[in-house]
Amino acid sequence: MWEYTDKLKDHFFNPRNVGEIGDPNGVGEVGSLACGDALKLTFKLDKNGRIQDAKFKTFGCASAIATSSVLTEMIKGKTLEEAANVTNKDIADYLGGLPEQKMHCSVMGREALEAAIENYRTGGEKKHELEGTVVCTCFGVTDQEIERVVRENDLTTVEEVTNYCKAGGGCGGCQGEIEKIIRRVQGDKARAKPAPTPKGTGKLTNIQKIQLVQQTINEQIRPALRAHGGNIELIDVEGNKVIVAFRGMCAQCKLAEFTMKDVVEAKLREFVSDELFVEEDKESALQPHDHRG
Ligand code: FES
Repeated sequence: MWEYTDKLKDHFFNPRNVGEIGDPNGVGEVGSLACGDALKLTFKLDKNGRIQDAKFKTFGCASAIATSSVLTEMIKGKTLEEAANVTNKDIADYLGGLPEQKMHCSVMGREALEAAIENYRTGGEKKHELEGTVVCTCFGVTDQEIERVVRENDLTTVEEVTNYCKAGGGCGGCQGEIEKIIRRVQGDKARAKPAPTPKGTGKLTNIQKIQLVQQTINEQIRPALRAHGGNIELIDVEGNKVIVAFRGMCAQCKLAEFTMKDVVEAKLREFVSDELFVEEDKESALQPHDHRG
């Protein structure tokens, strides 16, 4: 059984904006019935160039319906430039998280949105076309799409890539190629960004401290938790108090207290400051998350 947030269940049982706009400004169609998921997104602009209405039709699971529903809600009122900045992570976050195995639904939503915007910008001429070379023939996923989900979601394993775009989840014949793409992207990222080094002696400003806490969570703590189906989110930093919330498996783990002190706090003290201590934001862990800001 998948673990769904209340918000996801709400959008699955009461999907918003189902259907198709009769005279749309943009149409995006992605996926295929053969691959198990398909999504058609249409939108209409108002006279100021903002998305006045958006509708969707989808074939897929509860997550596909909920992510499509929420996507239409998220983009209404936005300009196309603003809508184009919506990532698959934003869609998943808006729902308070998705099961890892269902992250591909959020990617499909982002792709449909891009296809619809492209369709509008090319005067309705252009249909969505795959860019790059097809790596996974079972699901028709290209190297560029794999590269993008790896880069944007900081993926490190073939299994994660399968969760995010299905590539590798069929015959498995493309898994070696996916491995190579992961290594290449992660190598690029490591070269582009200096790894956090254990803390120096200088005093950190508050902003530097928050940035370093976030970086340490992203690079030193989250990968270990994700390997066990869990996750962690930074909620706030108040002086030396770091407030975090566990997600996924970690949220129900009986050893969460141990993980908090011996993994999270220990790493933050090692890489940021000896004076830090962590507290779990239990309230936020129980609530579906809304990142609309
Ligand atoms: S070619 Fe990718 S799973 Fe078969």
